[in-house]
Amino acid sequence: MSLLAPDENNIIKAADLIKSGGLVAFPTETVYGLGANAFDPIAVSKIFETKQRPFFDPLIVHISSFAMLSRVTENFGVLEQKLADAFWPGPLTLILPKKREIPDIVTAGLSTVAVRMPSNEIAIKLISRAETPVAAPSANPFGRISPTKAEHVLKQLGNNIEIILDGGNCERGIESTILKIENGIPYVLRHGAVTAEEIEREAGIKVIKKIEEAASNPETPGQLLSHYSPQTPLVFINDIDLNHIDKKNAGFLAFRKHSVMPEFKKIEILSESGDLHEAAANLFSCLHKLDDEGLDIIYTEKVPEQGLGSAIMDRLKRASKKGK
Ligand code: TXA
Ligand code: MG
Repeated sequence: MSLLAPDENNIIKAADLIKSGGLVAFPTETVYGLGANAFDPIAVSKIFETKQRPFFDPLIVHISSFAMLSRVTENFGVLEQKLADAFWPGPLTLILPKKREIPDIVTAGLSTVAVRMPSNEIAIKLISRAETPVAAPSANPFGRISPTKAEHVLKQLGNNIEIILDGGNCERGIESTILKIENGIPYVLRHGAVTAEEIEREAGIKVIKKIEEAASNPETPGQLLSHYSPQTPLVFINDIDLNHIDKKNAGFLAFRKHSVMPEFKKIEILSESGDLHEAAANLFSCLHKLDDEGLDIIYTEKVPEQGLGSAIMDRLKRASKKGK
């Protein structure tokens, strides 16, 4: 299996593969997705098989236009429209009542379906050429680090995927924000690339965060406590302990550049200036690099839990938890 340049011919080839029931890994502005025709339950079952993903964890359906939206949901409210106008195409996923035609395997039997319109041009072209909504989780083995480069997909799942479209680095680097609206109130089910503050500004309405303890929360199936995990143990560290630990075969994930950097075997810096957008874009890539070093342990700093920092800390906390 090799990476394909996302030119017109290869996108058509990839779209044809989706039409004929195959899987395609493709870039989005958040992370790479592993896509199949959302209306083809056999094709979708291959996603679960390839990722070793449990069937209780529903998928996000990706559309390339508002015309496609009517194929997945019957009911798009005023607030949903306002949010879609503000954030689509882009990294906001809305939970909507599903149409009967969406197979249960996509939604894990729920009566709702998660939908988003990505802004990445390659993703949009692929979906529109495939002429069908595309169900796609992140293109990584279940529970492991999400891919933000085509090489991450190749490394983790390459043997089992026929086509990987190489769109370079994902611009945002962190998954979409998942929002569910109930009785006119938006609930964030997963922190992501769009911040709660941005949603509040656009929608002019208070957003409720309903996540953190979502280990077995049926509202957020699949948001398991342990997720996004490197194979190397990941542990939070504070400035004081930093001076007293064994750094010989250890790695360090720094939020920003320190005036004196500690002497770890391998260091990755999320953003030299401490910019949260840059940190989010680099997060998974830095984790992949540290995990590839054969270290005994990776220590990580905390980032401020505001704006995008909430999404970054959500990923780091889950990545530091053992077991599934
Ligand atoms: O940025 C993203 O959202 C990426 C790219 C590829 O679009 N996709 C992604 O998919 O992160 P995945 O499968 O890794 O995460 C999807 C999560 C599920 O684990 C589940 O928590 C939530 O979406 N979800 C899906 N359908 C849902 C539903 N009907 N109700 C509540 N949560 C749902
Ligand atoms: Mg994922």
